[in-house]
Amino acid sequence: MYTTRWIAPSNIAIVKYWGKFDHQIPANPSLSFTLTHSYTDTKLIVIEGKTTQGDDPTVEVYYDGIPKPEFQPKILKFLKAILHEYPWIMGKLLKIETKNTFPHSSGIASSASGMAALACCIEDLHTTHFAPQSFRWHKASESARLGSGSACRSVYGGFVQWGLSSDGEGSDLYATPVQQVHPDFKTIYDFILILDSGEKSVSSTVGHSLMKGHPFASRRFEQGKENVIRLKEILKTGNWSSFIELMESEALTLHAMMMTSTPPFILMKPKTLEAIQKIWQFRQTTNLPVGFTLDAGANLHLIFATNALEAVEQKLLPELQYLCEQNLIIKDLIGRGPYKVDS
Ligand code: DP6
Repeated sequence: MYTTRWIAPSNIAIVKYWGKFDHQIPANPSLSFTLTHSYTDTKLIVIEGKTTQGDDPTVEVYYDGIPKPEFQPKILKFLKAILHEYPWIMGKLLKIETKNTFPHSSGIASSASGMAALACCIEDLHTTHFAPQSFRWHKASESARLGSGSACRSVYGGFVQWGLSSDGEGSDLYATPVQQVHPDFKTIYDFILILDSGEKSVSSTVGHSLMKGHPFASRRFEQGKENVIRLKEILKTGNWSSFIELMESEALTLHAMMMTSTPPFILMKPKTLEAIQKIWQFRQTTNLPVGFTLDAGANLHLIFATNALEAVEQKLLPELQYLCEQNLIIKDLIGRGPYKVDS
């Protein structure tokens, strides 16, 4: 029996991944930062199976101690996708005990942190017991990608790129950390406004597939490529106002792609627009570096610099809190990425 336990945080994309080719190859590079407090904590116990070597693995999944057979198909699919790298998984029983620090309804991508945590557990057992060598972060990221695209970025802390960009940096197969980051971007906050906790009407998987044959797809993929290059320059020079302009354009473009898909769909809610107006008003009157981004959902990520923290807490949050379900705002910030804990 082999056991390990890893914590992996979620991430928030500034340049969005939306549209992919076969084998989880992104249509454009994306760039995110990894969070601190919104994470998945996963313990993996590998037990010699009763089945013969060469058989598929079996999985048992527990979420917060409760058996979750409905999670099994996605995890089995993931394990089959990484078998070539980790052949010892064949015929084993994998017991997975997992939990998230954030509510399921929060719109924080649990697949990103969940798949990153599981990929780190498997790479750890591999390099400790089955093929002794040092932990290969890029392999953990590559595996995580096969579970969920955005998960490959959660294998590193700080700002992270996934996808080859025109400057020759990055890879479509795994994520890489962004090296040159100005001190003004070393701390960056993400306060997540829970505006709507309802089930999403269209999943990310369906959303990605609707980019196939989308009338604006090729232009959007070009824009994503250009924006990764622009964003890296912004991160290097520390220009917060350009950062916000690019980030908000990416978020609204993502949702514009949804609205112009066939069939179209809208994931924003009236409260999302109300919150955007309040953020824009606040920025206009205070001139502080505060902006927003959106994932594939209605909840807004309020993104800002350290010098805005006090004003956000005292003046902006009281205006936004009443829009949130049960006044819920998840206060997070950039973090150091996954780490192993005592199992
Ligand atoms: C809008 O990574 O969830 O959050 O690869 O199908 O699992 P799959 O998709 P997923 O898509 C994330 C989309 C996004 C943008 C982003 O995180 O870059």
